[in-house]
Amino acid sequence: MASQTAKTILEEMTIQEKIGQLIQLSGDFFQNGTAAITGPLKEHHLSLETIYTAGSVLGISGAERVRQVQTDFLKHSRLKIPLLFMADVVHGYQTIFPIPLALGATFDPQTMHDTAAVAAKESAAGGVHVTFAPMVDLVRDPRWGRVMESTGEDPYLNSVMAKAAVNGFQGKLPLDANHIAACVKHFAAYGAPEAGREYNTVDISEWRFREQYLPAYAAAIEAESLLVMTSFNTLFGIPATANQKLMRDILRQELDFKGVLISDWDAIGETIAHGVAGNLEAAADLSLKAGVDIDMMSFAYAKYLEKAANLDEHTKLLIDEAVVRILDLKVALGLFEDPYRGLSVEREATTILSSDNLHVAEQAAEKSMVLLKNESVLPLATDAKVALVGPGAHTGDLLGSWSWQGDPQKTSSIYDEFKSRFKSVEYAKGCGFHALNYQELDQAVMIGRDSDVIVAVVGLPSSETGEATSLTQLTLPTEQLTLLKQLAALNKPLITVVLTGRPLDLTAVAAVSSAIVLAWYPGSRGAAALTNILTGEVNPSGKLPMSFPRHVGQVPIYYNHYNTGRPISQTADDDENKYLSKYVDAKSEPLYPFGYGLSYADLAVEQLKVLNPIVNDSQNLQVEVTITNHSTISATTVMQVYSHQLVGQTVRPVKELKYFERLSLAPLETRDILVTLPLTTFRSMQSNLQWQVEDGDYTVMVGLDSDNVLQQPFEIRANNKRGQE
Ligand code: GLC
Repeated sequence: MASQTAKTILEEMTIQEKIGQLIQLSGDFFQNGTAAITGPLKEHHLSLETIYTAGSVLGISGAERVRQVQTDFLKHSRLKIPLLFMADVVHGYQTIFPIPLALGATFDPQTMHDTAAVAAKESAAGGVHVTFAPMVDLVRDPRWGRVMESTGEDPYLNSVMAKAAVNGFQGKLPLDANHIAACVKHFAAYGAPEAGREYNTVDISEWRFREQYLPAYAAAIEAESLLVMTSFNTLFGIPATANQKLMRDILRQELDFKGVLISDWDAIGETIAHGVAGNLEAAADLSLKAGVDIDMMSFAYAKYLEKAANLDEHTKLLIDEAVVRILDLKVALGLFEDPYRGLSVEREATTILSSDNLHVAEQAAEKSMVLLKNESVLPLATDAKVALVGPGAHTGDLLGSWSWQGDPQKTSSIYDEFKSRFKSVEYAKGCGFHALNYQELDQAVMIGRDSDVIVAVVGLPSSETGEATSLTQLTLPTEQLTLLKQLAALNKPLITVVLTGRPLDLTAVAAVSSAIVLAWYPGSRGAAALTNILTGEVNPSGKLPMSFPRHVGQVPIYYNHYNTGRPISQTADDDENKYLSKYVDAKSEPLYPFGYGLSYADLAVEQLKVLNPIVNDSQNLQVEVTITNHSTISATTVMQVYSHQLVGQTVRPVKELKYFERLSLAPLETRDILVTLPLTTFRSMQSNLQWQVEDGDYTVMVGLDSDNVLQQPFEIRANNKRGQE
């Protein structure tokens, strides 16, 4: 419902001022606090006058700079319509948190919420009004560099995390000065590019899109995300940014999204390259008709200025609708009351990088790291003689992609932390991420030979993750594998720490390592968190939000796959029978499955009881799970509840995550946990593209990963009424 403020201002606006609101410019257009026509973008033909009617800018922050730009802008704005400041605050502003894929590995919505809330507080103090986050694209192909921005391969995990992120960024509406507007992205299904190649075609059925890819966006919109961003890719044969079915029918109609729809960078203009628009005017018309409100840097909407006087009534109506949504966003941010939202250099100084914020970052990093292997070599005694080696051992590059305000120079390295925590640490780089010289290698081998234990920090640099970093190979660079093999030959415990923004093929690493810790890009306090885990001060609890393949040839690989007509049984029979859905040159299962992660404690799911094996339409399924910590140390883990529908109108995933809970267990504690699942949990997408809970036989499974589970049958007799969307 349009606010009175928006309606009143709209009546005052000229058509040029209305079109201006639809234009988002990059920070280049505001040099030294005033508008500027920048060189490289001259071909846009924007005048200074137009710049002063722009609705928003991206990539400017800092209390002083934002105040300067806003003050100058308002001086030149006839109707004093404040500028919106937007930015990519994806996993932290200056306090950088683990990458979102690592936050997914915490399986902890509270952590996702708290990190988003700190990011909001810091970036609001830096003058940011809107963040281009959370990214909730379902991902199943680690060749695609942007898997680091997602929380993984599961629709339910992503939905829970999407909601938590939006609530963290926005707080309870109306927005207060310590919160910012969220912009869920990229709508839609950007995470399914063919061959994992960036910006490539996405071509999935609407049935699969609705069952697997749409839920997390829907969850973010249900959590009242104030903006949505379009995606670069095509879907159902039309670029998302020009796709009326996707944006008008599904997003605005079905999901009832009333907020601002912003294009991705130049995505409107790219409909020309996609081949659905012949020129920029046509591109603008297609996107405006699809309901895109803001044009990020394609200057397509600016084309309307050239014919402003002769626009047809329908176009003018669409422009008015978009302008009202943008003005309402500014009302929601309180910008008409205070265009600076309480901005001050003092507030910025006391808010950013506070010790409390850094503590949130350290705890999030501790919860995100995943212990993949441990042949009783971890945790380490602090009086051990440690050889620390590898390209990631002494670098502040622990922040990962999309950490634009983070400073690796201000980020302590793993070596920095080790020096203060272990009695004896020797460091040698051993090799670069992609470079090897024998002098450095020999140095690493030498200190390894004189040590009790070797810790090798390997992986990929931040620059090789995120947007436009698709890979064809998922193994570590050969230089790093050479280092690991030489170190392994010393027959000392070799603990390999992996820095990565994507699942890698760790087959060769596992073959030579006594232990493997997946550290992701752990953020500003990642080195401290890793040290806390390696010394046993913190017991690892992270679980994989994406399957780790044995080989890139298996990709896309994900746990919630369909059974096929010739499933493997994961028994010896598989080798006997040629005609099965498998590879003949490698195992078909992942190296490490979804939900997998070890603890220093010996934890086990002892029992699963279904309290009501026949569920009718007025009941919930109730299961009781017994979990025991068989060790004398406390531990935290993630209990995971899956289900499988044996027979459905459409094929059903072999298992689907339906519930998860982080559990902390005291030494030798046995705990009974009651889990109640409403019937709608078991809905499935029918071929008529409607959700339905079907009668029939189901299996419920519980485990500490998706592979090793206890299972029990249950039956639903609900007369097929419940679960209608
Ligand atoms: C990029 C990304 C998008 C980001 C935007 C602004 O191309 O696709 O996620 O928010 O541009 O930086």
